[in-house]
Amino acid sequence: MEQKRPYRIAVIPGDGIGPEVVREGLKVLEAACQAEGVRYEAVTFDLGGERYLRTGETLPDSVLDELHQFDAIYFGAVGHPDVPPGVLERGILLRLRFALDLFVNLRPVRLFPGVPTPLRDKTPDDIDFVVVRENTEDVYALDGTAFRQGTEDEVALQPAIYTRRGTERVIRYAFDLARRRAAERGKPAKVTLVDKANVMTVGHGLWRRVFAEVAADFPEVETEALYVDAAAMEFVLHPERFQVVVTTNLFGDILTDLGAAIQGGIGIAPSGNIHPERTSLFEPVHGSAPTIAGKGLACPLAAILTAALMMEHLGELKVARRIENAVVAALQTGKIRSLEAGKMGLTTQQVGDLVAQHL
Ligand code: NAI
Ligand code: MG
Repeated sequence: MEQKRPYRIAVIPGDGIGPEVVREGLKVLEAACQAEGVRYEAVTFDLGGERYLRTGETLPDSVLDELHQFDAIYFGAVGHPDVPPGVLERGILLRLRFALDLFVNLRPVRLFPGVPTPLRDKTPDDIDFVVVRENTEDVYALDGTAFRQGTEDEVALQPAIYTRRGTERVIRYAFDLARRRAAERGKPAKVTLVDKANVMTVGHGLWRRVFAEVAADFPEVETEALYVDAAAMEFVLHPERFQVVVTTNLFGDILTDLGAAIQGGIGIAPSGNIHPERTSLFEPVHGSAPTIAGKGLACPLAAILTAALMMEHLGELKVARRIENAVVAALQTGKIRSLEAGKMGLTTQQVGDLVAQHL
């Protein structure tokens, strides 16, 4: 179908290595979109540590209002050594996440050919799944309560909240995603629920019931449920059993770092913060890495694959696959010696150029 209007993409390069890796991501995105005849307009927003130090602003309301008008946000990273920890992360990223109600944290875990994984016997065929992490509830949504703090009688309450609505929408997203991925690959679809329903019987009991209800609407999708401790073991021992994993916010936080580790590390891990009907935000998993910033040491593959994830979300599968295939081809040249800072053998820009050449 002919595109009616160009996509509108808000670009927030942010701090540290954010601008360096976003530059390479946009270079690849632009070339891939041109090749596929897909049009977009990018508008850059200056948010992050420098702006905060200059003006005291993190995310002004006017900018937030403007961001609602975009189809997607392409985000680098925030975090600045001269700004107290948390100010930018809370003031910008968490605020965007809650203001835009980005209830899905999408984390593909894919081992690309030529990338070393710590799992000795696993190949790219074995590691190719997606974690759908709930992104707005659980222990993140409530403050804790302390009684008699600092005394021998101290009591700490750290509650978790799960709503039927919040649980259902993220599980439904996971089933939809499983169906789409299976159709594209010509394979049966499967969703794995990860929880701790044997201990958190109330909260995760709700998850189990909602999971069963949603599953009934997707009879062609195979389902399974694993406790989080067993799932952690399975990520390492049998990652090939997973296609789409859906889990709660806190467990997702932990499991997705494990996922990033088995796919070859933070240099190649992309993510999306998604609301299917609203402006969604796409960012590499890594932060602003201030100690390596400005030196051309950062691996831009995470940011490049983040651009692919964004285009897939917008429905531009051809652009997304073109970018991913170019990453595969760039890795297959053997010129990228490592994804670790200082060991790549190429600069950030040279890696971006190499991917762009293979589009
Ligand atoms: P980080 O992800 O920035 O760095 C962790 C380690 O990975 C460092 O050794 C770094 O050099 C390396 N690294 C990161 N990205 C890399 C890349 N593309 N290529 C090669 N090596 C890379 O996490 P860290 O050090 O905990 O935090 C630094 C700052 O970033 C903090 O201010 C933190 O709050 C912020 N942060 C922001 C995030 C975001 O914007 N979403 C996420 C995580 C941290
Ligand atoms: Mg984390």
